[in-house]
Order: sequence, then C-alpha cells, then structure tokens
Amino acid sequence: MSRLRLGVNIDHVATVRNARGEGYPDPVRAAEMALAAGADGITAHLREDRRHISDADIDALAVTCRRRGRPLNFECAVTPEMEAIALAHLPHAACLVPERREEVTTEGGLDVVKGHNTIAPVVVRLVQAGIRVSCFIDADLAQVAAARSVGAQVVELHTGAYCEAVRGGRREEADALLANLKAAAAEAHRLGLEVHAGHGIDYETVKPVAAIPELMELNIGHFLIGEAIFIGLGPAIQRMRALMDEARATKAA
Ligand code: PXP
Repeated sequence: MSRLRLGVNIDHVATVRNARGEGYPDPVRAAEMALAAGADGITAHLREDRRHISDADIDALAVTCRRRGRPLNFECAVTPEMEAIALAHLPHAACLVPERREEVTTEGGLDVVKGHNTIAPVVVRLVQAGIRVSCFIDADLAQVAAARSVGAQVVELHTGAYCEAVRGGRREEADALLANLKAAAAEAHRLGLEVHAGHGIDYETVKPVAAIPELMELNIGHFLIGEAIFIGLGPAIQRMRALMDEARATKAA
C-alpha cells in the first residue's frame, strides 16, 4: 500500500489571530513548523467572508510552499472570485468545497450532481492552468461519478459525519458511514480518480480512515491546531503521522 500523505490545514491558526485582530499567531509560521514536523503539504481555505485565512495569507503561503517545494492545497468555493485567486497563484491543488456564510464549518460535500453545469467549466479552466483539481464530496457513489464527469482528477471524501458519529458513541451509525467511505473510495479509484479524505479527523478516527487502501492523502486541521495548545504543533503532527503509518502497517501485515 502506498504511503498516505498528510496535508495540514492551518486555517484555525488564523482563527485565533483574528479573534484579537493582531498579527499573531502567524499561519505561515505554522505552515513552516508543520512541514518541518512531517506534513507533506499545507491546506488553507480562503472563505468568502475571510473569517480565518486572508488574501495576504494565501499570498504568503503560496510563496512559502513554492520555496519549500511542497504542495499548497487551496480550498475554495466555486465562485468567479475564488477561481481568479486560484489562477493568480497557481497552487499545486485546488479543492472545491461548498460554502454557506452561516455555517460554522464546511457542512457536507459539494453537490457535484446538481452543480454539474456550474462546476465543470471551472474545473476545466483550473486543470488547463496546471492545477490539480479536487472535489470535496460526501461518500456517495453518484457524487463520485459526477466528480469524474466534471473532469476533477481527485475526490476528497468528507469524513465529518463519520467522525461525529464516533465521538458521539453512535457505533452502528459510525460503522455504516465508514462502510460508505470505503465503497466511495473503491469506486473513485476504479474510475481513475485519486482519493483523499478529510474533516473532523482526530487521533481516534484517523486509523480506521487511514486503513482505507485507496486513500492517498488526508487533510487534517482543527484537531491538530487544538492539540497544539497542549503539546505543541510539531508533536501533534508527529503523533498523527505515526497513527497514520500504524494504520497502514497493520493493514499491510
Ligand atoms: N478538507 C476539507 C475540504 C475541509 O474543508 C476541511 C476543513 O476546512 C478539512 C479538510 C479539515 O477539516 P478539519 O479542520 O476538521 O480537520
């Protein structure tokens, strides 16, 4: 089984910074630390309301990732503004996500089935510019097929519902949601899509997700930034990395 990459999402370093309107903590410094601690890439979501990551953060993160030769995964809504920003920076990857201003976080995946005609031309333009395009979708076979049909090269499967069910002690629901993630990953792989996963992952939920053999990358943020308060960002990332590696080693054994 191939090594699973870890993308560290540093959005919530900016959330803490913005809570006081100060210049610290700096998401770019967090990105540097994350890369030094073993992250394979950096993920940042420029929300339309700029509630955490700012345009200036994206400018700086693009420079840092380029200088370090590591991928920047730019998460964004499917809007003309975000498309223009992606095309201006040419990050390694763009992950297309749904966005509603009133939501606390990205609740549910992008509806690629319904949004096909809006999403497809955006994907074409981003891919033509050399950006690797991913659609953040629920673990649903129709969404997987739609992501393939709009021309995305990658799907990122939304693990939020699974992680919430685990944390809520809803075992049967969690098992069913994990089965959906496995089926969607297998189908996406069969269709030639690269498969990623993310949202809500912590130390408990990472191993069952990481054991899904088709997965190539996990994107993890909120839990790691929270854990960094207690043990530091580097150790939190190293522990997550170790759990991912254990899950893969157990599966291969
Ligand atoms: N992947 C995507 C597409 C996301 O939108 C997010 C949250 O911004 C993440 C991964 C990371 O989720 P979390 O912060 O819950 O680990």
